[in-house]
Amino acid sequence: MNYKNILISIEEKIATVTINRPEKLNALSKATITDLSEAIKLLNKNEDVRVIILTGSGEKAFVAGADISEFANYTVVEGAQLAAEGQESLFDYIENLKKPVIAAINGFALGGGLELAMACHFRVASVNAKMGLPEVSLGLIPGYGGTQRLPQLIGKGRAMEMIMTAAMISAEEAKQYGLVNHVVPQTELLTFTSVIAHKIMKNAPFAIGKAIKAINANFEDGKNGFDTEIKSFGECFGTEDFKEGTTAFLEKRKAEFTGK
Ligand code: COA
Repeated sequence: MNYKNILISIEEKIATVTINRPEKLNALSKATITDLSEAIKLLNKNEDVRVIILTGSGEKAFVAGADISEFANYTVVEGAQLAAEGQESLFDYIENLKKPVIAAINGFALGGGLELAMACHFRVASVNAKMGLPEVSLGLIPGYGGTQRLPQLIGKGRAMEMIMTAAMISAEEAKQYGLVNHVVPQTELLTFTSVIAHKIMKNAPFAIGKAIKAINANFEDGKNGFDTEIKSFGECFGTEDFKEGTTAFLEKRKAEFTGK
């Protein structure tokens, strides 16, 4: 897998996807969004991958937003198309992936960068990270799901203030808000995130995919999350991993899950 704007490494069933345009603070150009979306689709099918970690290259930025130079002359129609295509091909796709995707926020996560991190299943940040949705300072609003996911994560009032002021918050504030789960020194960010990935990988992959689906159902219009939970719970009973998990418990041994 060779991409112009991202790097991928796979180790011990963890794929680390690094957005790699450090000279532009890893800004999300359309080509970067295409690279990310194609790579994540392939990693989703790859049986050697159980967890995906998204991060940015360099010490300064996770992603400093959508690439402003690309859309500066867009029309109303082109603007809406940019948001629709990005949401469908990448942001919504990540959110609904069966494999866990964790954002390791190593620096600025602004605009589309924070939206990308929010589309991931959860977030870990390094102490130097700064987060914000500064679109209104450009005469825009967030277009990659920010107006929906930020209030889901931190509550309506805080999201209103963050979006209307365009202000950045520190990693520690983000943790207090519940926007990130952990804050760690920058040098430990990827190791710390991998430790969480390993904890996840001890568990049954099919069940994890169903848990993601049921949790997400709570936030989907027209869906009853309790119904999704009931159906998904039932489906787990049809898997080999359910038999293995319960048998291993009763036999007082460690379960060996295969994902079937
Ligand atoms: N789109 C395009 N290019 C971007 C970018 C973005 N979102 N964010 C940063 N860059 C580019 C800068 O233009 C600059 O390129 P240049 O060296 O060719 O001029 C390079 O990345 C470095 O950025 P710079 O602004 O010089 O770094 P800084 O340390 O002074 O400031 C930020 C860092 C993050 C505060 C500042 O880059 C910034 O405000 N970026 C835009 C954030 C934003 O509004 N994002 C939402 C977009 S919808």
